Amino acid sequence: MKTMHETASAAAAYPHELQRAATLRDGSRVWIRPIRPDDAERLIELYGRLSRHTAYQRFFTVMKRLPPDWARLLANVDYRRRLALVAEHDTPRGVELIGVGRYEPSERGDTAEMAFVIQDAWQGKGLGTILLHDLLRAAEARGIRRFCAYVLADNGRMLDLLARFTEIEERKIESGVVELTFTSRPSTASA
Ligand SMILES: CC(C)(COP(=O)(O)OP(=O)(O)OC[C@H]1O[C@@H](n2cnc3c(N)ncnc32)[C@H](O)[C@@H]1OP(=O)(O)O)[C@@H](O)C(=O)NCCC(=O)NCCS
Repeated sequence: MKTMHETASAAAAYPHELQRAATLRDGSRVWIRPIRPDDAERLIELYGRLSRHTAYQRFFTVMKRLPPDWARLLANVDYRRRLALVAEHDTPRGVELIGVGRYEPSERGDTAEMAFVIQDAWQGKGLGTILLHDLLRAAEARGIRRFCAYVLADNGRMLDLLARFTEIEERKIESGVVELTFTSRPSTASA
């Protein structure tokens, strides 16, 4: 349970400058912004809309529902060492999250682990590319320059995305999972 002081200081640290509108390849407009603690329920709803395949590609397991404790953890970041950007759009039911890109401290002190998920119907429209670029730029502004990601070996789209827009330093494969270590390309982070 957070104290009021912690909640207030987290709110104060909210990086408004990372918010922006973006236009996808099909012309649809989405809003990109840093995640907020009140997104926990929206993350559970987003998870509920994912196909089993997409959920598995992101979490390497399929759950009936994203556990509320996990959603709370994912929605609460310090905007420095842990940061998540969400993409949202308006629906007749209200605002829905359609994608999340995040980085977190990894076991290696100088390396942050990145992970992405885009709701199925929104995949292949350039949103993953946008979140990757915005996240790399935000990380760089916070002094983080080396990243890793765990990607299933048959996940061509994610492997392609990282190969195209980052500088891959190391690629290890174990039990069908590729562990990539990469840095941002100067042109990518400042694009
Ligand atoms: C991987 C993922 C984040 C990419 O986001 P996206 O919005 O679908 O990606 P984009 O539309 O930006 O496309 C990225 C590139 O992938 C490539 N691509 C698309 N489909 C592909 C496929 N089936 N195989 C290989 N490359 C493919 C394209 O080259 C595309 O580039 P383009 O701009 O030239 O079309 C998204 O598809 C997703 O959430 N997948 C499920 C979860 C997941 O895999 N997470 C990764 C774990 S870290």
